[in-house]
Amino acid sequence: MSNSSKATVIGAAPQGASDPASAGRAVREMFTSIAPRYDLLNHVLSFNVDRLWWWKTARSFASILQRSDTRVLDLCCGTGDMTLALRRRAGESAKIVGVDFSHAMLQRASAKSAGTPLRWLEADALCLPFPDQQFDLITAAFGFRNLAEYDAGLREIVRLLRPDGECAILDFGEPRGVLGKLYRIYFKHVLPAIGTLISGVRGPYAYLPASVERFPSPEEMLGRMRRAGFREVSWTPYTFGIAGLYRGRK
Ligand SMILES: C[S@@+](CC[C@H](N)C(=O)[O-])C[C@H]1O[C@@H](n2cnc3c(N)ncnc32)[C@H](O)[C@@H]1O
Repeated sequence: MSNSSKATVIGAAPQGASDPASAGRAVREMFTSIAPRYDLLNHVLSFNVDRLWWWKTARSFASILQRSDTRVLDLCCGTGDMTLALRRRAGESAKIVGVDFSHAMLQRASAKSAGTPLRWLEADALCLPFPDQQFDLITAAFGFRNLAEYDAGLREIVRLLRPDGECAILDFGEPRGVLGKLYRIYFKHVLPAIGTLISGVRGPYAYLPASVERFPSPEEMLGRMRRAGFREVSWTPYTFGIAGLYRGRK
């Protein structure tokens, strides 16, 4: 897909979804269906590099996480690995909440975080039950790409951040060059086959490469972030651009 056609993308569009509401429902059902095997598949399919990406992202925001009484929201938290990485970097007084709209994913997050002060909330990232200007940091790891409306998702993050608060969106990218070609063979053919085999569910692991292909390029995403109200926006590639971190300050 060329960058110009990516620029017109509104949000995720799983097969068969015709509008944002049905796209959201399809995404929720899809993640609920793979929740039992989600962690295993993540680590296997990424050769455990996912742990490094969460760790690097949390490390980038150590100064906010260490502030006393800092408030952090991890959107699309899934089974909570990004949230737990944030917790490990945070000071004692940090209040960190993970949000996801799949109950099955949150059940796993809750079980994995027993004994920590993390809190979990079942809600849609496009319409969150918090008053304006509540958070110092809002993160989303491999979840933002799945939102039914990207600009609405960015506006909701801006609404919830305090002035000067920061946003971190970690998501997949499309590496270029020879490595990119090899990676695409793995991502489009090998990964869906292994994902389907281990999860026992066909759709989600074909949706993954399709959703990354549809996702705006870094230039387009940074433009959208600026238009939503962020300043100091940047994108840092991780592991040759297989993933990357978008940052912005309100
Ligand atoms: C690929 S998983 C990422 C989970 C976790 N952040 C990680 O890094 O492993 C994407 C998660 O986003 C959630 N999600 C997608 N759209 C959402 C929305 N509109 N509101 C809340 N959660 C959403 C899904 O339920 C799923 O758990």
